[in-house]
Amino acid sequence: MNGANDGGSPPSSRDVEPDEEHGDSGPEQPRRPPIYVLEGNTLHTRLTRELGVNYPFVSDGMAFVSLPPLVLAVSEAGGVGMLGVVPEPPDVLDVRIQTVQAGTQKPFGANLLIAPDGGQHRVTREHVEVCIARRVPIVSFQGDLPPAEWVSSLKRAGIRVWVQAPSVEIARQALALGADGLIAQGRQASGINHSGLPTLALVRALRAMTDTVPVLASGGIADGLSAARALFHGADGVWVSTRMVASVEAYAHPGYKQRIVDGDAGDSDFTTVFGADWPGQRMRVVRNRVVREWTGREGRVPMPTPGPTRVGTTRLFPGTPGGASVDIPRFSAFIPTPDTEGDLDEMAMPASGASMARIESIQPAGQIVVELMERARRVLADPHGLEADTDEDDRG
Ligand SMILES: Cc1cc2nc3c(=O)[nH]c(=O)nc-3n(C[C@H](O)[C@H](O)[C@H](O)COP(=O)(O)O)c2cc1C
Repeated sequence: MNGANDGGSPPSSRDVEPDEEHGDSGPEQPRRPPIYVLEGNTLHTRLTRELGVNYPFVSDGMAFVSLPPLVLAVSEAGGVGMLGVVPEPPDVLDVRIQTVQAGTQKPFGANLLIAPDGGQHRVTREHVEVCIARRVPIVSFQGDLPPAEWVSSLKRAGIRVWVQAPSVEIARQALALGADGLIAQGRQASGINHSGLPTLALVRALRAMTDTVPVLASGGIADGLSAARALFHGADGVWVSTRMVASVEAYAHPGYKQRIVDGDAGDSDFTTVFGADWPGQRMRVVRNRVVREWTGREGRVPMPTPGPTRVGTTRLFPGTPGGASVDIPRFSAFIPTPDTEGDLDEMAMPASGASMARIESIQPAGQIVVELMERARRVLADPHGLEADTDEDDRG
């Protein structure tokens, strides 16, 4: 029923079909057996066993959006909630962690984005120290790889370190650093995204590379079928963003949530137009007016932007005494929240088209976790047809 990653029954001899188009593990690589186990009303993989949770479902620590209410809702429902940690300074992160710890005893994590940001609120060693002092169960890194010393300090403190990898090479480097988990970020994924492979192809490639740490699938996972398919192709769990933006607890602007519900596979795009202080950061976002107007000619974006540069206002660090009202300049990477006023058609709204195609409504986060995972469980009970990844919609 289960496979090598669970320490269960021996591997099957089923052979993998080579994925020549996407250049993943190659014809000589045997496909590893499915690694999920269906038990009662839970869906167990190595990830759930390692963490002691019910479902192999992780809600991404989304910048601006993943605040304690979303983290608590996901972890209490049996998944793993992750705090978003950009642009919070360390003291705000500390308050957020304490809020989560006051609300649940279940595992959760903090997601640290390492990207050059023009000297504003960079993720620093201090953020890492806060996570260590508060004994956060999981710390994940996205963007650039973390310094080796951060990883070793976290691990010495008994904290699991996960790294989001957009390629096999980055995954290899992350393992060399000592990562305890890999997040396979496929082309479909929202937000900052430098991936060249579709999600399932990258999952298979990372699975073929390592059997020692959990591999999570990220990009286009938004319903039970997409989650089941990712598990079937070798993931130990799913890492989900766009679906969670359209949740009641997400700290996202109602208009942004609605665009995700209304959006379809072709309604997101890659652009580098956002983030004047983050040159060259390719993001997958909702294709709104500013994206339609500037994608493909980002080099012509005037810097600094002349004339009336403000497209709205927002509040940083909501719920903390240090919270501050700020302008949103044109081409800013600030994500619209309930505190945001202004023109959403000029703002960055990270989203995956492949995910939007699978989202019908805004729901409570806990309900999303349970319904999505229970549906995945039913699909995996009769996995006919999951071998193919042809209907992985890579348009958006
Ligand atoms: C609102 C939002 C905020 C995000 N914040 C970050 C972030 O801070 N750092 C990062 O590297 N990725 C961020 N992401 C992208 C996710 O890490 C990842 O690519 C995503 O889980 C996979 O795609 P999906 O949206 O189809 O689930 C964000 C995505 C969204 C929708």
